[in-house]
Amino acid sequence: MKQRIRKAVFPVAGLGTRFLPATKTVPKEMLPIIDRPLIQYAVDEAIEAGCDTLIFITNRYKHAVADYFDKAYELEQKLEKAGKTDQLEKIRNVLPPGVRAIFVTQAEALGLGHAVLCAKSIVGNEPFAVLLPDDLIWNRGDGALKQMADAAEATGASMIAVQDVPREQTGSYGIVATDEFSGRSGRINAIVEKPAPADAPSNLAVVGRYILNPGIFDLLESTTPGSGGEIQLTDAIAALLADNPVHAYRFKGTRFDCGTHIGLIEATIRYALDHEKLSDAARDMMQNALSELGVIDLN
Ligand code: G1P
Repeated sequence: MKQRIRKAVFPVAGLGTRFLPATKTVPKEMLPIIDRPLIQYAVDEAIEAGCDTLIFITNRYKHAVADYFDKAYELEQKLEKAGKTDQLEKIRNVLPPGVRAIFVTQAEALGLGHAVLCAKSIVGNEPFAVLLPDDLIWNRGDGALKQMADAAEATGASMIAVQDVPREQTGSYGIVATDEFSGRSGRINAIVEKPAPADAPSNLAVVGRYILNPGIFDLLESTTPGSGGEIQLTDAIAALLADNPVHAYRFKGTRFDCGTHIGLIEATIRYALDHEKLSDAARDMMQNALSELGVIDLN
């Protein structure tokens, strides 16, 4: 599989119930961090890694995601007439030239594994990436997927992003057991979806970035419902391990779980503090807020 990935799958059919009532009309992937929706961060990461074909697994309520990546003729004309070139660039760069977006409907919410399987006929027989937009990964250097794609290209193995989590949180993640790490990666010898802390083979958790061998599709077809009654990607990866090398990759960067309230807040704070125009104001505002609440003493 020593091949550069070109295709990226974005499962975006989830209901986003944690963010109700906002997600009654706005898909959670469209919630912004500063001025860009979450999905844009994942898309940019995939493009940076070399992907030119973006496959969105969506459902009938998620028109906003497709609309966002569509060309906005009227808006472009207005901005052009008004000479607002900065803003024009911003909306044109949502998808750079040469990158195409494909939308596939997942008719029933049967799980992450089922969502990925919906991309089978478009991906075909080549390695591909899966990015879960809820997991936002901040890094000043190369994005997480590019780091993984470089490593995958060198080894030919499938790659899964991982990070260490406190043992009491294993029930929220896929958890892997690996051979000894060499540098940032180690071969996975077991993977289990959301084990209780007592049953977890380690505290190394799967983060939503995968580079997968296309053999995963046949395995997904025969995967039966697992954790939560859903068809789990983790279970198909467990089957893939038998005949194919799959490596865990400890990426460089900070991951924010934007599927939770606190994760979205944390990400907003981080991006604001690192923003070229907002950082000073954001830092002052945070210090003042903490001081007013008596958390810190500015004097
Ligand atoms: C999914 C995967 C899980 C992984 C997690 C990362 O779970 O099934 O293995 O650890 O994403 O965010 P979800 O958070 O969708 O329940």
